[in-house]
Amino acid sequence: MHQNPHNIHAPVMLADILSYTSPQKGDKYLDVTAGYGGHAQAILELTGNYKESVLVDRDEKAIAELKSKFGHTGIGLLRQDYLSVSQDMLAHHRQFDVIVADLGVSSLHLNEVSRGFSFTEDAPLDMRMDQRQPITARDIVNHSSESDLAEILWRYGEEPKARQIARQIVRNRPINTTGQLAAIASRAWPGYSRNHPATRTFQAIRIVVNDELAQLSKALPLWLKLLAPSGRIAVLSFHSLEDRIVKQFFVSESGDRYDAVLTLLTKHPVTPGPQEIAINPRSRSAKLRAAAKQK
Ligand SMILES: C[S@@+](CC[C@H](N)C(=O)[O-])C[C@H]1O[C@@H](n2cnc3c(N)ncnc32)[C@H](O)[C@@H]1O
Repeated sequence: MHQNPHNIHAPVMLADILSYTSPQKGDKYLDVTAGYGGHAQAILELTGNYKESVLVDRDEKAIAELKSKFGHTGIGLLRQDYLSVSQDMLAHHRQFDVIVADLGVSSLHLNEVSRGFSFTEDAPLDMRMDQRQPITARDIVNHSSESDLAEILWRYGEEPKARQIARQIVRNRPINTTGQLAAIASRAWPGYSRNHPATRTFQAIRIVVNDELAQLSKALPLWLKLLAPSGRIAVLSFHSLEDRIVKQFFVSESGDRYDAVLTLLTKHPVTPGPQEIAINPRSRSAKLRAAAKQK
């Protein structure tokens, strides 16, 4: 991992992912959240098998970036959500030796202010990873009932002041920008200086807009089916709700049971070291879990 002076996306925990997935010459690779292709590039350099590998991202800009990097290699590039891709791949009986999922938003989303993922500058409330999706953050914030908003903030943001923030959202509607939403969330936490108090509210709304947890829970069993015997899967998550889903799934498919399909490669989640966190703050909350399919 090298210094990142131009705010270029650095693949999180790359060395760990390479070590757990152990890509071999000829392996078929499926990257379900390919982003800028950082992990993909490192893995594909080891496997050399572009023609039987697939890179997926639901974001148009990510796909453009991946095209410019890999377009000439013959690799499959799909702009689609990973759940529907996985269903399609299964229908076509595809199998992969290495699968990587690096969940959540990329710096590409966060840095592009107009996408509305970040509250550092004022922008329209959008938060769609795929801009073809019909529902934006603005729809959720302005058209949900107060009790639904409180439930969203509590469940997906683990926000202790969910009810208070939901009440203020409803009182202050219409809310059209990230700045307005961040200001309301911040008022619930006066004098709070650590993480920005709007972080949990933004996470909650983003998860709903992109249906993130349902995508993950439904896709994990499909990834298991898409793994070839002895194939390896690594999943990087960025908050406890995602990590819990990955952990429960891996545990439920492993262990001493006669029908266990997975061998856990990480008993506990692996986290980045202080050096990586210092260079790449986005890695701060990363948790990596990996497993291998039995023969
Ligand atoms: C953290 S970035 C991935 C970065 C990538 N591993 C790299 O090294 O450049 C996550 C990417 O996953 C995409 N993504 C998130 N959820 C998705 C889903 N359900 N289906 C497809 N892509 C998704 C986002 O658009 C984003 O580009």
